[in-house]
Amino acid sequence: MDDVTRDAAVDREARIRRALDHLRNDTTDQFEKVEAFEAFEFTDPDRAARERDLVFGAVPTIVAHGSEIAKPYEFKTLRLPRNNVIIVRQKDGSVKALVNLCRHRGALLETDSCGKRRLFSCPYHRWSYDIDGSLRAITRDNTVGDIDPAQAGLVELPCEERHGFVWVVDRAGAAIDVAGWLGPEMDEILAGYHLDGLHCVKAGVYHEDANWKILQDAFLDGYHIQYAHPNTAAKYIHTNVMAFEDFGSHCRFIAPRKSIDRWLEEDPGERSLVDDVTETHFLGPNSTLLKQPDHFQLLTFWPDPAAPEKGVMEMRLLVPSAEAAGMTQERWDYLWDKNWKILEAVLINEDFPVLRDSQWGMRSRDAAPMVLGRNEVANQVFRRLLDRLLSVADPS
Ligand code: FES
Ligand SMILES: [Fe+2]
Repeated sequence: MDDVTRDAAVDREARIRRALDHLRNDTTDQFEKVEAFEAFEFTDPDRAARERDLVFGAVPTIVAHGSEIAKPYEFKTLRLPRNNVIIVRQKDGSVKALVNLCRHRGALLETDSCGKRRLFSCPYHRWSYDIDGSLRAITRDNTVGDIDPAQAGLVELPCEERHGFVWVVDRAGAAIDVAGWLGPEMDEILAGYHLDGLHCVKAGVYHEDANWKILQDAFLDGYHIQYAHPNTAAKYIHTNVMAFEDFGSHCRFIAPRKSIDRWLEEDPGERSLVDDVTETHFLGPNSTLLKQPDHFQLLTFWPDPAAPEKGVMEMRLLVPSAEAAGMTQERWDYLWDKNWKILEAVLINEDFPVLRDSQWGMRSRDAAPMVLGRNEVANQVFRRLLDRLLSVADPS
């Protein structure tokens, strides 16, 4: 164990003991005050447009794990809030994000959701583009007239691969600095997880009739477990107990699992309690990364580009290889398949119905202000971040 890893382990055990003390005392970490909010934030098209520009068009967000486009020429297409995008692994191993729009007459250049291409060839009149976005060939070019290929390549978006993830700022010409955005604490935390060595074994996309913030909020919330998940998650995880750290645009919190209860009366001493907690990270503005004892789960939330009352959740399981875990591939695949089905059942049967109905409730014309409690610390960080990003002047 190197010094950094050892320090992180010592620090983690101290935070777990802080969570255990909260559990013993029926307390939790709290924010400084209760925060009010309004229903229109989840229904208003103007607010949604400002979020597209000032949130997604301004700061880096995770669009994939690197293992989803592991080899040169592998790509994925994305529907980001401001642009349709292709992310594609280059010959030199780097990743580019290109606007998925043919520069001839604007056809959607790549229609598959993922795959491998030596070049992108437009279905309409077969102009073709190299994977770096440069225009390679115009069909029947002797008849088309003067077009400077250097001016007719695909538009590139700022893109960076860091900590195993592909990050994009959804605005051409914007700067990208993922380490700067994460800040020193979260950058170091993610570096310590070595996420680039993991594999995205499962990925799912869920379209829901709920604003992306309603979806995101539910996965920062440790207060609803016992009430919305009495027969599932609440059997394993304590409700409304968090040892929390605020990193400004991001945060991290430890929630105790029920297995920790054997140490309520007794002193656990020096032993490690890492298997008795879940550790959750809010990676602002739209991801929740859960660290489980043997894997990570990433949830990412997106607005529908056109409809404020619709949103998308992406879920990914990031796991070590079967070889690293010392298991056969067959057994490994079976285990993650089972894990995935359990996760999906909770989300689809228990969370999503409540969240869809919340969205419906937000339509009430006479909705009075609502509140975030002091105990809803991670939700408070999310809200404070959006308030800050939305308060700057529109860059366009
Ligand atoms: S629109 Fe793509 S080649 Fe014409
Ligand atoms: Fe939930």
